[in-house]
Amino acid sequence: MTVANIAKKIQNKHNLNHIYAHNVARSFAYMDNFSIGMEDESLKEKPKPFVKWVGGKRQLLVQFKLRNLYPPEKFNLINGRYFEPFVGGGAVFFDLLPEKAFLSDLNNELVITYNVIKNNIDELAKSLKKHKYEKEYFLKIRTKDPKKLSDIEVASRFIYLNRTCFNGMYRVNSKGGFNVPFGKYSNPLICDEQNLRRVSKVLKNVEIKCQDYKEVLKKAKKGDFVYFDPPYFPVSKTASFTSYTKEAFLEKEQIELRNTFLELHKRGCFVMLSNSDTSLINNIYSGHKGVRITKVEAGRAINSKASGRGKITEVLVTNY
Ligand SMILES: C[S@@+](CC[C@H](N)C(=O)[O-])C[C@H]1O[C@@H](n2cnc3c(N)ncnc32)[C@H](O)[C@@H]1O
Repeated sequence: MTVANIAKKIQNKHNLNHIYAHNVARSFAYMDNFSIGMEDESLKEKPKPFVKWVGGKRQLLVQFKLRNLYPPEKFNLINGRYFEPFVGGGAVFFDLLPEKAFLSDLNNELVITYNVIKNNIDELAKSLKKHKYEKEYFLKIRTKDPKKLSDIEVASRFIYLNRTCFNGMYRVNSKGGFNVPFGKYSNPLICDEQNLRRVSKVLKNVEIKCQDYKEVLKKAKKGDFVYFDPPYFPVSKTASFTSYTKEAFLEKEQIELRNTFLELHKRGCFVMLSNSDTSLINNIYSGHKGVRITKVEAGRAINSKASGRGKITEVLVTNY
């Protein structure tokens, strides 16, 4: 039986979208164990991001779709390649579940975690189940130096801290040390094993690397779809939130990113980029043939002052 036939059966049986069904069928075909695919009830649900990530795009995706901004109509989800060079929690990747994807980010611990979920899910689940939700224990884990840990330990610590720290934030100090305080939850789910297993399956054919976004220029070709979700240009001096990594991402970096956007546009890639609705961003993306700026409404809660938490607009820049 071909992968396409298997996909059709899985799609009908579990009422899934065809791309996801195709992905699942392929991973089962590789494992030569198609029968498991048909019986596995857990397939009914799509995997979702396994970390909470500031700037996560899940609520915005609905608006993107309603306004026909995503996915690009002419992008071929089965044969086309998808690049997400600021992947973070990967909300768009997990929504799209393309057949061929290249994910990357400059946050090394995050990238190690993706790869451990992809390649070593059993050991990771075992390690996650050992964690305790206690402040003293949290602080002990937080002080550990990830450079001295194995990849499984890095991933386990990363997910544990994300699930138990204040607001699920990721913030590092100038030396790169994680410094978010303990968070108060009633019963945080540290090991969401079912979701992690689903994530592991869909990552099987995905390349995940720790690298600068500009590396995308080395691989992306005409017809590929590239989504940029960079650290946003701050709306005001006090609202700045650029500490995902110890490197800053300010005006100079935003202009370099715009140049990368235009280079991919020239090549014939489908390019989509999110950013803040600020004059700098509007200026640097205006006046380029074929490039369109759309304003979308976003409810974001990064600002610590309640007054800063209302609905604000963001921009979505597209070349299609
Ligand atoms: C706005 S977040 C992405 C959020 C993500 N789209 C989501 O849904 O969770 C920006 C990401 O860019 C990464 N980053 C910052 N500078 C980078 C660079 N120069 N190259 C690649 N990634 C970078 C950060 O580590 C962070 O994960």
